[in-house]
Amino acid sequence: MAFVGGWVVLLCLSSITTVLSTDLEILKRLSEDLKGERSSWNTSDVNPCNWQGVQCNGVSVINITLSGMHLKGILSPTIGQLQSLNMLDLSKNGLFGEIPSNLSSCKSLSKLILSENRLSGLIPKDLSKLSSLQWLDLSGNAINGSIPEALGSLARLVHLDLTYNELTGTIPDSFGNLSVLEFLSLSQNSLEGNIPQAFTNLTLLQTLSAYQNNLFGLLPPLNWTSLQWVNLASNNLSGTIPTDICSSGALQVLILSNNAFNGTLPENLGACGALTNFRVGHNVLTGEIPATLGKLESLIYLDASQNHLTGPVPTGLSGCKSLALLNLASNTLVGTIPEDLVNVSTLQELHLANNDFRGIIPHGLSQCKLLNVLDLSKNKLEGGIPLDLCNSSKLVYLRLQENMLSGHIPTSIGDCRQLLELQLGDNSFDGTIPSTIGSLINLQVSLNLSINHLTGSIPNSIGTLSKLVSLDLSHNGLSGQIPSLVDMVSLVSWDFSYNLLTGPIPQVGSILNSSSSDYVSSYAHNSDLCGGPLPSCNADELKGQSKVLSFGQVAAISVASIIIALLIFSCITLAVWYKRHPSVSIDPTPSPMVSQVFVPHFSQAVNFESVKEALQTKGYLISSNHFSTMYKAIMPSGLILAAKKFHSAEKGLVLHYKKLAFDLDKLWRLSHENVMQPIGYLMQDNLAVLLYDFVPVCSLGQRLHKSPERTSLSWSMRHQVAIGAAQGLVFLHHACHPPMVHMDVNSDNIFLGHHFEVKVGDIEVAKLLDPTKNTGSVSAVAGSFGYIAPEYAFTMQVTLQSNVYSFGVILLELLTGRLPVDEGFGDGVDLVRWAHGASARGDTPEQILDSRISTESFVARQEMLAILKIALLCTDASPTQRPRMKKALELLVEAKTPAIAS
Ligand SMILES: *[C@@H]1O[C@H](CO)[C@@H](O)[C@H](O)[C@H]1NC(C)=O
Ligand SMILES: *[C@@H]1O[C@H](CO)[C@@H](O)[C@H](O)[C@H]1NC(C)=O
Ligand SMILES: *[C@@H]1O[C@H](CO)[C@@H](O)[C@H](O)[C@H]1NC(C)=O
Ligand SMILES: *[C@@H]1O[C@H](CO)[C@@H](O)[C@H](O)[C@H]1NC(C)=O
Ligand SMILES: *[C@@H]1O[C@H](CO)[C@@H](O)[C@H](O)[C@H]1NC(C)=O
Ligand SMILES: *[C@@H]1O[C@H](CO)[C@@H](O)[C@H](O)[C@H]1NC(C)=O
Ligand SMILES: *[C@@H]1O[C@H](CO)[C@@H](O)[C@H](O)[C@H]1NC(C)=O
Ligand SMILES: *[C@@H]1O[C@H](CO)[C@@H](O)[C@H](O)[C@H]1NC(C)=O
Repeated sequence: MAFVGGWVVLLCLSSITTVLSTDLEILKRLSEDLKGERSSWNTSDVNPCNWQGVQCNGVSVINITLSGMHLKGILSPTIGQLQSLNMLDLSKNGLFGEIPSNLSSCKSLSKLILSENRLSGLIPKDLSKLSSLQWLDLSGNAINGSIPEALGSLARLVHLDLTYNELTGTIPDSFGNLSVLEFLSLSQNSLEGNIPQAFTNLTLLQTLSAYQNNLFGLLPPLNWTSLQWVNLASNNLSGTIPTDICSSGALQVLILSNNAFNGTLPENLGACGALTNFRVGHNVLTGEIPATLGKLESLIYLDASQNHLTGPVPTGLSGCKSLALLNLASNTLVGTIPEDLVNVSTLQELHLANNDFRGIIPHGLSQCKLLNVLDLSKNKLEGGIPLDLCNSSKLVYLRLQENMLSGHIPTSIGDCRQLLELQLGDNSFDGTIPSTIGSLINLQVSLNLSINHLTGSIPNSIGTLSKLVSLDLSHNGLSGQIPSLVDMVSLVSWDFSYNLLTGPIPQVGSILNSSSSDYVSSYAHNSDLCGGPLPSCNADELKGQSKVLSFGQVAAISVASIIIALLIFSCITLAVWYKRHPSVSIDPTPSPMVSQVFVPHFSQAVNFESVKEALQTKGYLISSNHFSTMYKAIMPSGLILAAKKFHSAEKGLVLHYKKLAFDLDKLWRLSHENVMQPIGYLMQDNLAVLLYDFVPVCSLGQRLHKSPERTSLSWSMRHQVAIGAAQGLVFLHHACHPPMVHMDVNSDNIFLGHHFEVKVGDIEVAKLLDPTKNTGSVSAVAGSFGYIAPEYAFTMQVTLQSNVYSFGVILLELLTGRLPVDEGFGDGVDLVRWAHGASARGDTPEQILDSRISTESFVARQEMLAILKIALLCTDASPTQRPRMKKALELLVEAKTPAIAS
C-alpha cells in the first residue's frame, strides 16, 4: 500500500500545485476535529487525493464522501476554506456540535449531506448563500430552532430533507420560491402553523412529507400532476381532501391519517390508477365510499377507519387485486359484508368492526389464504360461524363479539391453530363448548365466550391453554365442575360468574391466592361453587374432592399474586402480520425488498439471498424468544453472521423503513462491547430481519437452565456474566441520550459468545415495537414472565427501574441456578418472592444459593452472599428503593474479592 501510495505521490508531484497544498493543510486541520474509529485519514501522505473518500480534480479537493465511517467529533469551520468543494457527505457518523456557518463560503457546493449524526443547534442562515446547492439533507439529527426564511433563496434546490430533528416554528413562506424542488420532507419535527399558500408554486414537487408535526389549517392547492408520495399524517390539518388528487393518476401514496379532514372521499378515486397506499383513518370524513374503489388494481392498503362514513361498502371490490388491508372500522356503514371480498386472494386484514353491518359472515372467506385478522365485532351480523372458516387458516385474530350470531361454535374452530385471540362474546351461540378449543395452543391474548347461551360442562381441554392470559366464560348456562386449571400458568384474569357451575373452585395455575376475596366476583352467581374465596365446601364434598385439591396444590405453579403484571397486547392501528409459510405463499406482487448494511467493511460480504435461505434451515437455529428467532447465516464468502427474524412484522415497516433505518443505524453507532448491535437489516413484505456480526453460542438462559453443561458454569464465570450484562445496561441507561429502556431484560436476551463474551441483546425491540401513531405498530409486550416488576400493573410502562428489577432476577438465576418461574417453589410464588421469603421460611441465605457452586471455595461463597444482597436490593418491590444500574454495577464490582485474597 505504502509503495503504491508513494508511486502516486511521485506521479502527481509535479501537478500538486500550491492550491492543493493549501487544501492539504485544511484537511489536516479538519481531521484533528474529526476522529474516525474504523477509518481515519493518513495525514502523513502529502497528497490528500489519495486519502479515503477524498476526490480531486487535479488542482483542488472537490468531493469528500465519508458516510458511515464511525467519525466522531465536530465539523470545523475550516471547512469553509475548501473553495472548490462540490459535494460533502458526512452522513451516518457521530458528528456533534453545530453546523458551522462557514460552510457558506464553499461557493461551489452542490450537495450537502449531514444526515444521521448528532448535530445540534440551529440551521445556519448563511447556508442560503450556497447558490449552487441542489441537495440538502440534514435529516436524523437533533437540530432545533426554526427553519430560516432565507433558505427560500436556494433557487436550485431539488432535494430538501429535514426529517427527524427538533425543529419548531412555521414552514417559511419563502419555500414557495424553491421552484425546482422535487423532494421535501419535514416529518417528525415540532413544526406548527399552516402549509404555506406559496406551496402552490412548487409545481415540480413529487414527494411531500410532513407527518408527525403540529401543522393545522387547510391544504393549499398543489400540483397533483407531479405529486407521487404525500404523507401528512398525525397533524391537525383540516378542510376537505382535494378533488383533483387523481387528475393525472400519478399519485402512489396518500397518507392523511390522524388529522381533522372533513367532507367526502373524492368521487373519482378510481382514477388514481397508481395508488398503492391510501390512508385517511381517524379524521371526520362523511358521505359514502366511492363506487369507483374497485378500479384500484394496485391498491395494497386502504384505511378509512374512525370517520363518519355512511352507506354500504361498494360492490366490485374484487377488482382491488392487490389489497392486503381493508380497514373501515368505526364508521356508520350499513348493508352486508360484500360477498366478492372472498375473491380478494391477497387480503390479510379485514377490519369492519363497529359499524351497522347486517346479514351473515360471507362463506368462502377461507379462500383468502393469507387472512390473519378478521374483525367483524360490534355489528348486527346474524347466522353462524362458517364451518370452513378455519380451513388451512392463517387467522391470528378472530373477533366476532357483540353481534347477533347464533348456532353452535363449530368443532372446526380447533383448526385455527395460529389464533392468539378468540372473541365470541355477546352473541347468541348455544350448544356446548367444543373440546377442540384445547387445540388452540397459541391462544394468548384472550378467549372470551361470555354472554351467550352455552350449556354443558367446560371441556377439560381448556386447561391446556398454557399461554392464555385472559379467560371469560361468564353469563352462560355452563354446568358441572370447573376443570383443573393448574397448567394455565399465564392466566391472570378469569371469569366464571353467572353460570350453573358446581363443586370446588380449582386452584388456578398462576395465582394460588385465588382464594383472595378479590376473586369472589369471578365465581359469583353460580349454582353451587365452594371453596377458595367462597364459603368452604362441606365436609362430605371435601372428602370426595380432596384428591383433586391436593394435586392442585402440589402441582400449582405459582406466580406473583401481587404482580398482576402480565403480557399486555395492545393492538394498535395495524395488528400483527405473521410471516407467511414459505411453501404456501406465492405473492404475485411482492413488495420491494429493502435492505442495508451499515458497516462499510461488511457491505461486500453480505448476501441477502443467503440470509433468507438461512432462515429456513432448522439446523441454523441459535435461539428463540417471544419476539424473534435467531439463526446462523453463512455467507458465500464464508463469513458467519447472526440473523434475527421477528415473529411478527408489520407490512408497513417497509414503507417506513427510513425512520427505522435511522434508529437501527443509530443503535449501531452507539457501540459498546456488551451490547449486541445490528450491522444491517432486511425487510420485505412482513419479513423483518436484523443482522449481527456477533454470533452467539447460546443465551445465558439456555446455558444456565437447559444446557447439559450447566453445572460447569463456575462462579467466577457467572460473576463475569453479571458484570458484563450490567455494563451493557449501564451503557443503555447512562450513556445514551435519552436513556434507553430495554423492553425485555431476561436471561434469554443475555448472549454468550465463543470466547465467553457477554452481550445484552434485543435492544432494538424498543424501537421496532414503538407504537408511534404513524408507523402503525405491532404488539407491544411488557416483558417476559417472571421478570416483570410489580409496579408495571399500575404504570403499564417499562422504566429504567423495572429494568433494574429484571436484572436483579437474572442475578438471582445466576446465584440460585433456578428458573424465574418454577414449580419447585412449592407454595412460594416466583424466584423473587422465594428469595425474599427465605428468612421468613427460616432458610439461611446460604440455603438458597446454588450449592453446586457455592461450595467451590470460601471466596465463591463470600462473593455470592454479597451479590445476593445486591440481587435482593434490585428486586425490591418499591422502584424507588432499587439502585440505579450504575450503582448496581459498582456494587457488583466491589463484591469481587481481590485475587490476592483467594
Ligand atoms: C501513510 O502514508 C505514508 C506516506 O505515504 C506511508 O509511509 C505510511 O505507511 C502510511 N501509513 C498507513 C498506516 O497507511
Ligand atoms: C463528485 O461528486 C459529484 C456529485 O455526486 C459527482 O457527480 C462527481 O462525479 C464527483 N467527482 C469526482 C471527481 O468524483
Ligand atoms: C469563518 O468565517 C469567518 C467569517 O467569514 C472568518 O473570519 C473565519 O476566519 C472563518 N473561520 C475559519 C476557521 O476559517
Ligand atoms: C436548542 O438546543 C440547545 C441545547 O441543545 C438549547 O440550549 C437551545 O436553547 C435550543 N434552542 C432553541 C431555539 O430551542
Ligand atoms: C421569495 O419569497 C418571498 C416571500 O414569499 C418573497 O418576498 C421574495 O421576494 C421571494 N424571492 C426571493 C429571491 O427570496
Ligand atoms: C409564486 O410564483 C409567482 C410567479 O412565479 C410569483 O409571482 C409569486 O410571488 C409566487 N408566490 C409566492 C407566495 O412565492
Ligand atoms: C405540474 O407538474 C407536471 C409534472 O411534473 C408539470 O408538467 C406541470 O407543468 C406542472 N404544472 C404546473 C402548473 O406547473
Ligand atoms: C369542514 O369544516 C369546516 C370548519 O372546520 C367547515 O367550515 C366546513 O363547512 C366543513 N366542510 C364540510 C364539507 O363539512
